[in-house]
Amino acid sequence: MNDTAMHARTPVRFDPSVETEREDEAQTQIELVATLREMAQTMAEHTGHAMRAVHAKSHGLLHAELVVPEGLPPEYAQGLFATPGRHRAAMRLSTPPAEVLDDRISLPRGMALKVFDVEGERVEGSEDHTTQDFLFVDGPVFVAPDARGFLRSLKLLAATTDRAPTGKLLLSGVLQSIEKLIEVAGGSSAKLVALGAHPLTHPLGATFTQVPIRFGDHIAKLQLAPVSEALVALEKTELHLDGKPDGTREAVMDFLRTHGGEWELRAQLCVDLERMPVEDASVEWPQELSPFVTVARVLAAPQPGWSEELSREMDDGMAFSPWQALAAHRPLGGVMRARKAAYAASSEFRSERNGCPLHR
Ligand code: HEM
Repeated sequence: MNDTAMHARTPVRFDPSVETEREDEAQTQIELVATLREMAQTMAEHTGHAMRAVHAKSHGLLHAELVVPEGLPPEYAQGLFATPGRHRAAMRLSTPPAEVLDDRISLPRGMALKVFDVEGERVEGSEDHTTQDFLFVDGPVFVAPDARGFLRSLKLLAATTDRAPTGKLLLSGVLQSIEKLIEVAGGSSAKLVALGAHPLTHPLGATFTQVPIRFGDHIAKLQLAPVSEALVALEKTELHLDGKPDGTREAVMDFLRTHGGEWELRAQLCVDLERMPVEDASVEWPQELSPFVTVARVLAAPQPGWSEELSREMDDGMAFSPWQALAAHRPLGGVMRARKAAYAASSEFRSERNGCPLHR
């Protein structure tokens, strides 16, 4: 652990009162499920195959291993991380739209991690499973502060599902140039990036992070950071995608065939509920108050990285959700509460429509 972590303030103790439900949450959930259903249905009708309502396109599908080390400090040795050991894991790298778009429309990258054979009390609704899922996107904050805000953007997006792909490609090119200018000026815009302004960099070089979970006695946000030398070198590597609609996936496959990868799973403990809020997903928790500290390693041996067979196994045959979790890693905050019904509805729709049982 580094010096800053040693001197970090006392972590806030988890208590159910850290969450505050809003009156309109049930209505938001109903509308989210309906909007997502409409998007998934449109795509299923157009393609003949049901995909995820969002994050439909996978760019990497990996078999991996999660290693929990011995000797973590007590405040970090919580939940899954309380017991040193090795677990089988699966990883799915994706981009958020409901459509399988040309990769030159450069979007945020999602990473889902499923850890198998996890023991302990389960969060309600996931009692029949023994996996712990963690979901990440490569930005420090969510696109909206709450589920209502996300619903507003989703409704606008839903109206464009599988429409005007050429327009989206042109728009993405323009937005990437604007985002570059903002970055030159020292900033970045989560909203522009979500619309297609993500820099065209290698997705395996990204660091993935976002909304809070219970971390045993405490509360944390997690980060998945590349650490093997070859992965770290990808961080600013530009992809050249001319004439390659699946160029991101091809770059991932090229890399993983020879290199494999190693990531650190890191936890940032909440030490101040005002400056590190649970309910507002648009606030970045300051790392000077509490740094990300490594709680496990994720190891992937060299492997194909994507294939039709892997796609049947993981795209169609698996569902990742923050609500497939130990009680010790209960998802927290309004955005997380809204995700419970949304993920279940989306995965059940594709499982039923494709006649494919799901591994959770
Ligand atoms: C209210 C907010 C959100 C809603 C309604 C929502 C909804 C969904 C749905 C319906 C799916 C597809 C599930 C399936 O069919 O298996 C999904 C996938 C995904 N979401 Fe979210 N999401 C939300 C917030 C977030 C946040 C904050 C993150 C980032 C941490 C995130 C990351 C992901 C990722 C990485 C996937 C792909 C999972 C996979 O590979 O199977 N989502 N989301």
